[in-house]
Amino acid sequence: MVRDFQFPDGFRLLPEYFDRAAQKILLQCVREGVKAAPLYRPVMPRTGQPLSVRMSNFGPLGWITSKEGYRYGPTHPVTDQPWPPLPERLGTLWADIADWPCGPDACLINFYDMNARLGLHVDAGENAANAPIISISLGDQALYRLGGPNRRDPTRSMRLSSGDVVVLGGDARHCYHGVDRIFPGTSQLLPKGGRINLTMRVVGRTL
Ligand code: SIN
Ligand code: MN
Repeated sequence: MVRDFQFPDGFRLLPEYFDRAAQKILLQCVREGVKAAPLYRPVMPRTGQPLSVRMSNFGPLGWITSKEGYRYGPTHPVTDQPWPPLPERLGTLWADIADWPCGPDACLINFYDMNARLGLHVDAGENAANAPIISISLGDQALYRLGGPNRRDPTRSMRLSSGDVVVLGGDARHCYHGVDRIFPGTSQLLPKGGRINLTMRVVGRTL
């Protein structure tokens, strides 16, 4: 029997929440951030296989993956420097839409070139397991896939465009999601193409 996809409670897509001018400001924030904390190519736990997505972080804690495993840490794994602070505009976005009593302490910066993808996964490394996750897309469109709490649940694919905001709150917070592909040439925001995704989370751990 083919089971239908039902959007999980707490999933919100806010199309073009950021207009072009705001996208440019956010892009500038990312450029400054990655000057201080350069994008690096992380590797999968155990296998050491490189991810196709390049990463960096804003905020007191950054999400890191290496041969040793997944974790949050206060410093960049290559430069050993603290992550740059969360840009104010992202903090305001959180305050405006998160409906959560505290702010994010981590913001992952994902950079996808035209061949990058991100396999289906659940964000599960946070102590604040029920705090929403808020993510922003900039640049080329992505084919985003949302599933259910189990890997084999039915999924629904949708295109995310520059300026879109996705909220994974409530039940959606525990659902599988990933990026199957990037559509090159679908945005002029990044002069050389590609997609940036900024993902804010509450880790909920004091160092
Ligand atoms: C993520 O789940 O970490 C990123 C999702 C996205 O790139 O839209
Ligand atoms: Mn995720």
